[in-house]
Amino acid sequence: MYRKTKTAILIALAAMAVAGCAPLQDLIDGPSAKAEGLALHQHLLEKQYQSWELWPGTRELAPSEFPHGNFQSTRINPRAARALKYGKELPAGALIVKVEFDGRQRFEALSVMLKQKDGQWLFARYEGDRLAEYPDKEGPCLSCHRGQKSNDYLYLSRAR
Ligand code: HEC
Repeated sequence: MYRKTKTAILIALAAMAVAGCAPLQDLIDGPSAKAEGLALHQHLLEKQYQSWELWPGTRELAPSEFPHGNFQSTRINPRAARALKYGKELPAGALIVKVEFDGRQRFEALSVMLKQKDGQWLFARYEGDRLAEYPDKEGPCLSCHRGQKSNDYLYLSRAR
């Protein structure tokens, strides 16, 4: 009996470990859903987004604009960093993480953009640890970012 329970627990732990891995490939072009949003967050934590490079030419805790908090650091994953370095278009799997801070420079939220296989961005937002805006290609985030269509939907420019 004890042994069976132990085996069951081990299997459950193994399953959790596998599920927790959240390989980026599975998050690209998946259905927009809560599960995907949680997996994306998990991916950011596992890959330690805090240690990712800043968007070239930007600095840590730079002043931010509405609706993105008072201060921000814009971090990019290695895939995005490589593309920018070689002047290429941001490829599927490129991640931009806007880390937002309040007026006293306390962490507040993450606004995230993940490039999809079809070239569109998936937008998601986390307030504290809470999934505040489910991953979405068409949602409220795009209402502003659409205006930047000619710049790959980004306010940041590569020249900066
Ligand atoms: C009211 C307009 C508006 C809405 C809505 C909006 N954004 Fe933004 N976003 C901006 C502006 C303006 C900037 C650049 C200014 C700054 O960095 O503070 C920006 C910058 C960003 C950046 C850094 C890359 C870039 O474009 O320069 C990310 C990532 C981002 N937004 C994600 C999101 C996500 C995710 C959402 C939805 C949860 C969202 N945004 C909703 C206006 C908006």
